[in-house]
Amino acid sequence: MTDLNDIIKPSNVAVITGGASGIGLAAAKHFAAAGMSVAIADLGGDRLAKAAEELKAISGEEHVMAIETDVSDKQALAALERAVIQRFGRVHVLMNNAGIGPETSIFSADSGWDAILGVNLMGVVNGTRAFGPNMLAHGEPGLIINTGSKQGITTPPGNPAYNVSKSGVKVFTEALQHELRNTEGGKISAHLLIPGFVFTGLTKGDRAEKPAAAWTSEQTVDFMIESIKKGDFYILCPDNDVARPVDERRMAWAMGDIIENRPPLSRWHPDYADKFKAFLEGK
Ligand SMILES: NC(=O)c1ccc[n+]([C@@H]2O[C@H](COP(=O)([O-])OP(=O)(O)OC[C@H]3O[C@@H](n4cnc5c(N)ncnc54)[C@H](O)[C@@H]3O)[C@@H](O)[C@H]2O)c1
Repeated sequence: MTDLNDIIKPSNVAVITGGASGIGLAAAKHFAAAGMSVAIADLGGDRLAKAAEELKAISGEEHVMAIETDVSDKQALAALERAVIQRFGRVHVLMNNAGIGPETSIFSADSGWDAILGVNLMGVVNGTRAFGPNMLAHGEPGLIINTGSKQGITTPPGNPAYNVSKSGVKVFTEALQHELRNTEGGKISAHLLIPGFVFTGLTKGDRAEKPAAAWTSEQTVDFMIESIKKGDFYILCPDNDVARPVDERRMAWAMGDIIENRPPLSRWHPDYADKFKAFLEGK
């Protein structure tokens, strides 16, 4: 099992994509508060600069890097890796977390598909492939945490490109962990962060106040850390609306579509409404 005290400690290094806002920034603050050197990679602009200032106030100027990076660009991630290694030497925690959620539909003419798959899925693949080899090579323990979504598991109707991207993150991260645990001498473990509803830049819309149902980014990061301490690969976060047993039944029903030969997304099919309701209630 991973002893987090060997990883999240002063003199070690964390890199977080999408680290200028929401869950990524909360994670960066957690790692900075633990004394780690932290590099946040995000789209440029005021948000990145402001986040860097907040981190410097926690751990000091010399322990913080903020690097403008578009994670959908493979070369940009390779350059990020080189820059972090040059400044901090080695990387112990990589959190591939940058994500976007513009609306998409199956047949719409807009380019949302390329953008979502480029950031949410290829950003994770690019980040892992850019940082993974040197993280394994230095021989010290470490973590690769990829941010997925419940929407990549139960795939509700609404934003198909988002679901496809997050489903890809799940599959990629499972394969990654299989690879890592079969790498002789490797001390890196992968983890799939599956947030619930979290009040962040991605979800807040016009709202100024956190809705009662949502968790904060800090709650999500605390849950993530506790889960990794326990050795969990799947970090299935609840929120104030959905408890774990509900998630478990929703996921089981989704898999049951194949096993029971139901139509896909039968949870939202009128013919199955009563059956799903009964299943959710454990009947
Ligand atoms: N908030 C939720 O309820 C929720 C639920 C499930 C999953 N997630 C996932 O959590 C992750 C973090 O999102 P958040 O909710 O904290 O939202 P957020 O918008 O607050 O943070 C996402 C960050 O990613 C950055 N980003 C976007 N495109 C980028 C790119 N091309 N390159 C680099 N950075 C880029 C944004 O600038 C932003 O700072 C995302 O992967 C998201 O899909 C969030």
